[in-house]
Amino acid sequence: MLELSALALSAMLVVTACGSKTQPPPPTEVQATSPDPTTATTATTATTAPAATTATTAPPAVPAPLTPPPKPWHDLSDDEKKAHMKDVIMPAMKQRFQAFDGEEFAKFTCATCHGANARDVKFEMPNPELTKLPETREGFEKLAQTKQKALDFMGQVVMPDMATMLGEPPFDPATNKGFSCYNCHTKQ
Ligand code: HEC
Ligand code: HEC
Repeated sequence: MLELSALALSAMLVVTACGSKTQPPPPTEVQATSPDPTTATTATTATTAPAATTATTAPPAVPAPLTPPPKPWHDLSDDEKKAHMKDVIMPAMKQRFQAFDGEEFAKFTCATCHGANARDVKFEMPNPELTKLPETREGFEKLAQTKQKALDFMGQVVMPDMATMLGEPPFDPATNKGFSCYNCHTKQ
């Protein structure tokens, strides 16, 4: 059910983004739960849409949706993880990093997060090639003297949006659990 609704949603957003003549998308729940006899049709549409998209769409003019995976991240197979990275995380993060600094991130690829040797290390994160982060308040205060803008972008955009797209809770200092800076960056 969840899987269907995520697919249906992304298919609908794609349709909207293309400016096709279809009606504005109805609320997703309606689409996903309506007990109509065309379930098979819906499923077919949903699964074929991404292929058609790849072939025909230009870069989206609307913000890329922050779609969570159809099941918990850690239950996805390697292929499912790669597909989610490519179809959801790449477009959304590329938009965000380029809006933050179009020059530095003019080239934005899997390697921007995973490193030049991504394939050799099987896309393992965190990536020691990224800027190493401090673990103390003093360390962050020092970093903020030169990198405040990057810290804001990371804390307000990259970390929470990435958590959403992985379907993980964002880091919670109270429990010390959740998706955090250190899922991407290693520690100093
Ligand atoms: C914005 C940063 C970012 C980009 C860009 C990105 N990834 Fe990821 N990727 C991550 C993070 C973070 C994780 C780890 C998620 C977790 O388990 O906490 C991850 C995990 C993965 C995994 C699972 C690794 C494992 O050990 O289970 C694969 C496979 C993967 N990415 C492939 C890709 C591919 C292929 C691309 C390019 C199409 C890509 N990624 C682009 C951040 C990124
Ligand atoms: C999804 C992966 C990801 C997450 C989560 C993430 N970052 Fe980043 N961060 C990057 C990438 C990619 C870059 C650009 C490459 C670089 O400068 O290391 C970057 C750059 C930075 C920079 C700029 C470094 C420089 O020298 O210009 C700082 C500072 C930073 N991150 C801090 C943080 C903090 C603090 C958090 C948590 C609030 C965080 N990051 C979360 C991927 C991530």
